[in-house]
Amino acid sequence: MNILVTGAAGFIGFHLSKRLLAENYHVIGVDNLNDYYDVRLKNERLKQLETNDKFTFYKVDLADSACLNEIFESHSIPIVINLAAQAGVRYSLTHPHSYVHSNLVGFVNILEACRHYQVEHLLYASSSSVYGANTKTPFSTTDSVDHPVSIYAATKKANELMAHTYSHLFNIPTTGLRFFTVYGPWGRPDMAYYSFTKDIIEGNSIKVYNNGDMRRDFTYIDDIVEGIVKLLDQPPEPDPNRDLDPSTSHAPYKIYNIGNNRPVRLMDFIHTLEYLIGNKAKIEFLPMQPGDVKETYADITDLQKTAGFSPATPLETGLGHFVEWYKQFH
Ligand SMILES: NC(=O)c1ccc[n+]([C@@H]2O[C@H](COP(=O)([O-])OP(=O)(O)OC[C@H]3O[C@@H](n4cnc5c(N)ncnc54)[C@H](O)[C@@H]3O)[C@@H](O)[C@H]2O)c1
Repeated sequence: MNILVTGAAGFIGFHLSKRLLAENYHVIGVDNLNDYYDVRLKNERLKQLETNDKFTFYKVDLADSACLNEIFESHSIPIVINLAAQAGVRYSLTHPHSYVHSNLVGFVNILEACRHYQVEHLLYASSSSVYGANTKTPFSTTDSVDHPVSIYAATKKANELMAHTYSHLFNIPTTGLRFFTVYGPWGRPDMAYYSFTKDIIEGNSIKVYNNGDMRRDFTYIDDIVEGIVKLLDQPPEPDPNRDLDPSTSHAPYKIYNIGNNRPVRLMDFIHTLEYLIGNKAKIEFLPMQPGDVKETYADITDLQKTAGFSPATPLETGLGHFVEWYKQFH
């Protein structure tokens, strides 16, 4: 069966594509290979995927609807997993248009393609950032998420609203996945676990915001991939009699959290990295950054109910794999 994975050269898209290929799917990968971070990393990931002849790659920008539609013309595509996006909270304060381009224009093109080419299930990346200024924890998909604190979060929330519209109007089953701080080998250099590792190894100081008083629900990449794979064949069904909450609809629409469900204090995270690397971190404590949130913590009740799965990789194990990969790769 064919599956279209957008953002296939990205961190999560690479791992997911590898897993789908191992499960014998034909993966059609799309990515514009932009230079938000080191393109060599994207090319290295791609090189590995391209060793499998069931992988077909298109260097296409989602905002280019004509090129995107050509891919749907040339392949029958029952399932789409949209991971391509402009990611990153801090960058969105300085480059908002990049988020509008990829996350809004790009996403509406994906929705239109799903509509015109009768896609049977669209899964797409949302983010824990949509919880924004919410303070009730754990964050539940039944909570309202109307107070985003970055344009990145606002575009992810907008994706959920746009998906709902297409589920409602055109009966397209859509599954929104709110990922919580994903980490692991082949990860993203713009994320703290990656830059902290680099700086601790090189003896540079690391910047720790809100004086370290933060908690993150760090989720290992393999758990994210497992969650996505388990939801592939669970397209939401329409149900005119369903009792509604913000994660459901009468239309075939559903939102899930995929997170580790065990938030870790930032300072404990840094101590784990120090232990794994074998160096002490030089820490520069700084105030809270605009756009950041103090804590993330996923309620995964729905994921457990539908997919029968809970992420479980302990931070020390997952970070150990990352540090090992980092040393080898760099
Ligand atoms: N990694 C995390 O912690 C995390 C957390 C929450 C949500 N997410 C979401 O998960 C998805 C994947 O994240 P990731 O960590 O793998 O990020 P990533 O940046 O490594 O991957 C995204 C990929 O999409 C590509 N891309 C961006 N804009 C594009 C466009 N307009 N057209 C085609 N390709 C484009 C990029 O080149 C990149 O390779 C994103 O939607 C992100 O917002 C990630």
